[in-house]
Parts: sequence; C-alpha cells; structure tokens
Amino acid sequence: MRRMTVFALAVLFVVMLISVRQSFAVSADENYKWYCAQCHGLTGKGNGVNATPDQPVNPKNHTDTAEMAKLTVSDVENVIRDGGAATSKSTMMPPWGKVLTDAEVKELVVHLSKLCNCKFK
Ligand code: HEC
Repeated sequence: MRRMTVFALAVLFVVMLISVRQSFAVSADENYKWYCAQCHGLTGKGNGVNATPDQPVNPKNHTDTAEMAKLTVSDVENVIRDGGAATSKSTMMPPWGKVLTDAEVKELVVHLSKLCNCKFK
C-alpha cells in the first residue's frame, strides 16, 4: 500500500513538472511579437515602432522573399543568438542568446521562413 502511495506521488510530481514547463513554453509567434516586433514590425516588414528613418541601418524586412532567401539556416540562427556585431551586421540587431533557449531560436527560424515565404539555404 505504501509503495502504491509513493508511486502515485512520483507520477503526480512528474505530471506537475511537465505542466509547469508547458505553461512557460512560449510560441515563436509570441516571442517574435515580444522581442522582435518593436524593430522588425508585427508582420515582419521592418517597420516596427523603433525603426526610424534616421537610423543608419533599417531592421531587415523579414517578408522580403528574395533578400531573406540569401541567408542560410546557420546565418539566421547565429544572428539571432549573437546579434549583428558577431555576424558582421549592424549592432542595431541585438543578441538574444541569453534570452531565448536554443529550441526557441530554432522555432523563430521556422517562423521567419513563414514570414518570408522562403527556405533558408
Ligand atoms: C533593436 C532593434 C531590433 C530588434 C529588437 C531585433 N532586431 Fe533583428 N535586426 C535589426 C537590424 C537593424 C537589422 C539589420 C542589420 C544589418 O543589416 O546590418 C536586423 C537584422 C535581422 C536579421 C537579418 C540578418 C542578416 O544577416 O541579414 C534577422 C534574421 C533578424 N534581425 C532577426 C531578429 C529576430 C528573430 C529578433 C527577435 C528575437 C530581432 N531580429 C530583433 C534590429 C533589431
């Protein structure tokens, strides 16, 4: 009987852990709106509220199919993780490696390929 109780508690614990993790998991769409949209715009056109004409570089238009298709999957992952400075791009593009998990970065890459309607090399 005691064994059953211990087992039941263990199962309950695991189920709780899983549900806690899931409640923290955020979709790529939400991450994009939260972290990227202020510069890249809600629909990815590069026209977020922080994008002004006097900036030296415009946030990339993520819906520009031809431009975006020039990038490789690792280009996109690297620029998201390490920012523009680490990838010979403008430092106006911040690094997100300490904010987003690896899985979230990969999901954002999928999200971006939907926005540009393109496939990264
Ligand atoms: C503070 C403004 C800002 C925020 C926030 C921002 N970006 Fe950027 N991003 C830029 C700018 C500016 C560029 C253009 C850099 C250049 O061309 O030198 C850029 C470029 C990019 C590029 C193209 C890089 C290339 O090699 O052409 C990708 C992909 C990108 N951003 C993804 C994201 C994602 C995903 C997020 C959110 C997690 C994000 N950005 C948040 C400003 C921002």
